[in-house]
Amino acid sequence: MTRSDDFVEKTIVVTGGAGGIGGGVVRALRARGATVAVLDIAQSSDATLSITCDVTEARDVAAGMRRVRSEFGDPELLVCAAGVVKEFPFEDLELEEWQRVIDVSLTSVYLITREMLPGMVRRGGGAVVTMSSGWGRKGYPFGSNYAAAKSGVEALSKSLALEYALRGVRVNSVAPGPVKTAMIQDNPAFDEHKKAAAIPMGRLGEIDDIVAPILFLLGEESAYITGQVLHVNGGLLMP
Ligand SMILES: NC(=O)c1ccc[n+]([C@@H]2O[C@H](COP(=O)([O-])OP(=O)(O)OC[C@H]3O[C@@H](n4cnc5c(N)ncnc54)[C@H](O)[C@@H]3O)[C@@H](O)[C@H]2O)c1
Repeated sequence: MTRSDDFVEKTIVVTGGAGGIGGGVVRALRARGATVAVLDIAQSSDATLSITCDVTEARDVAAGMRRVRSEFGDPELLVCAAGVVKEFPFEDLELEEWQRVIDVSLTSVYLITREMLPGMVRRGGGAVVTMSSGWGRKGYPFGSNYAAAKSGVEALSKSLALEYALRGVRVNSVAPGPVKTAMIQDNPAFDEHKKAAAIPMGRLGEIDDIVAPILFLLGEESAYITGQVLHVNGGLLMP
């Protein structure tokens, strides 16, 4: 639910914008007249500008943002959708796999917001949407690294919401339940019917189910909402 002209002539950065949910956001924003830069290790054919960037690397993120600023100026909107899941029984979870998931899902949010928030303040305000997960609230057996990262994303987002509230930047998180993207469909143990049966609304999330609340939190209709975590999960988790 956004006003039709909310994104016209706006510049937006989407990390993980070559992926399922990020890609849906990119297409929806382009269709609404926005200029969209994607920072991802994979290429996006939907973006205005697709920059190959490992969002866990400070130098990559800084270089990517220099390029975005040189082409479009300071962007006013950001969606942090890069993420990765690696499931292990806790006793088999090596430091490397712990670190990778924390870096992609959490440290990347620190790196990109640190690059972008000063520019948002300079232009008089902006909005950030980060991606959490229901697992970040309730814990994730065999995914303790991911759950810890997503809990961290929520805490980071709320902290930034408080720190930037008077400077015109809103920061919110969207926490989906299972959504039909490569992130879960590529898992050999993925069983759609079994997962759907556990969801009160009887189905998994589609990409558009998640894109709409992200656009709402980016747009003017959520002008008085900051520091919130919006759970979008067909009733699976009611925190
Ligand atoms: N799909 C789900 O069920 C689900 C549920 C809850 C939360 N989420 C979260 O939503 C977000 C989007 O997930 P998705 O389902 O679209 O996953 P996806 O796998 O389709 O997309 C993830 C994107 O992140 C990119 N990426 C991974 N590592 C990167 C790195 N180091 N640098 C730059 N880009 C990198 C990938 O290339 C990919 O384009 C993630 O943060 C995920 O944790 C997803």
